[in-house]
Amino acid sequence: MTVNVNELREKFEELYGKDGDCKAYFAPGRVNLIGEHTDYNGGHVFPCALTIGTYGLIRPRQDRMIRLYSMNFKDMGIIETSLDDLTPSEAAGWTNYPKGIMWTFEKRGYHLDKGMDILFYGDIPAGSGLSSSASLEVLTGLMLRDTFGFDISMVDLALIGQYSENNFNGMNCGIMDQFASAMGKKDCAIFLDTSNLHYEYAPVKLPDARIIITNSNVKHSLVSSAYNDRRNESEAALKALQTVVNIETLGDLTEEQFEQYKDAIKDPICQKRAKHAVYENQRTIHAVEALRTNDIEKFGKLINASHISLRDDYETSCEETDILAALAWEVPGVLGSRITGGGFGGCTVSIVKKESVDLFIQTLEKAYKEKTGIQAEFYVVDIGDGAHALD
Ligand code: GLA
Repeated sequence: MTVNVNELREKFEELYGKDGDCKAYFAPGRVNLIGEHTDYNGGHVFPCALTIGTYGLIRPRQDRMIRLYSMNFKDMGIIETSLDDLTPSEAAGWTNYPKGIMWTFEKRGYHLDKGMDILFYGDIPAGSGLSSSASLEVLTGLMLRDTFGFDISMVDLALIGQYSENNFNGMNCGIMDQFASAMGKKDCAIFLDTSNLHYEYAPVKLPDARIIITNSNVKHSLVSSAYNDRRNESEAALKALQTVVNIETLGDLTEEQFEQYKDAIKDPICQKRAKHAVYENQRTIHAVEALRTNDIEKFGKLINASHISLRDDYETSCEETDILAALAWEVPGVLGSRITGGGFGGCTVSIVKKESVDLFIQTLEKAYKEKTGIQAEFYVVDIGDGAHALD
């Protein structure tokens, strides 16, 4: 779907009046090809920015008032708040994301000396796990940076987004989603080492294949508390390993080293979590090598192995995404398929030969409906650029 920015502009003027120019911006959602739950374990990730995301229009005000409106939450109307009241609250719903970014700017010494009117519109399906919140955070950061003239790099905007999500929204996420939204590059995935934020762009040249995202259309509750539990379990495993080996993160270990030292982790659950983090990091490194040498078959096999590890060891998959992956593995022409993102529902990502795309969609749609009663959705996606101004 293409979004008409002029229509957003008209809506902005209808809501807030025509006086003064408003500027338009976009920040994308992301899909992670491989490297799941490694970003808070000092490992590698391999996400790419999508062409869907969040649009934002902004105009500064002369007072300290903030007016926020989302075309995705029309019923909530215009939400008014003030720069002097940047505290999270359940009632504030989605506005906790932009407010959190403003709070983080202030905390970091980027003083916002006037209020603003903002309109948002997002075309990422709600609850799909394609990082609508990270895109909203990065977008807000970019709009503030430009409106107030701060000198902040795109990487720092990603870090501001993560800080805000951790400390204002209470979700202890890693850096992957905000980094992909801020730093994405058309037709490339980002090979990011989360231990030091070194990154390289890897062209995703799939001459005979497409990337398909399948939305399970389920989102199990308590996602953020289950996510935070995984993070705590990984940290407990790291602490246990540090009693026998000198490492800073789980990403420092090879598979062989993990096997050598794993008995130091007495809790079997924590041991499984650490196994996933170590093996998934190595899989990600191998997957990027495979892509570089055009070994797409190997790339696909590593994607499948990632799903199995998330299903059995990290336990962030769920029945519905397991069904989608298992169905995909049976379709001829599917090179790889796995759950993507934080988990407990959301989407799978599959690499599918071009000639099999229709068969893939038809087969999964029908069989998933039969097994779960739920209608899945499919997006044959392109890889887009990171956050940017639109005019
Ligand atoms: C969520 C988080 C990311 C990352 C993924 C899992 O999307 O926001 O930081 O941890 O889950 O890979």
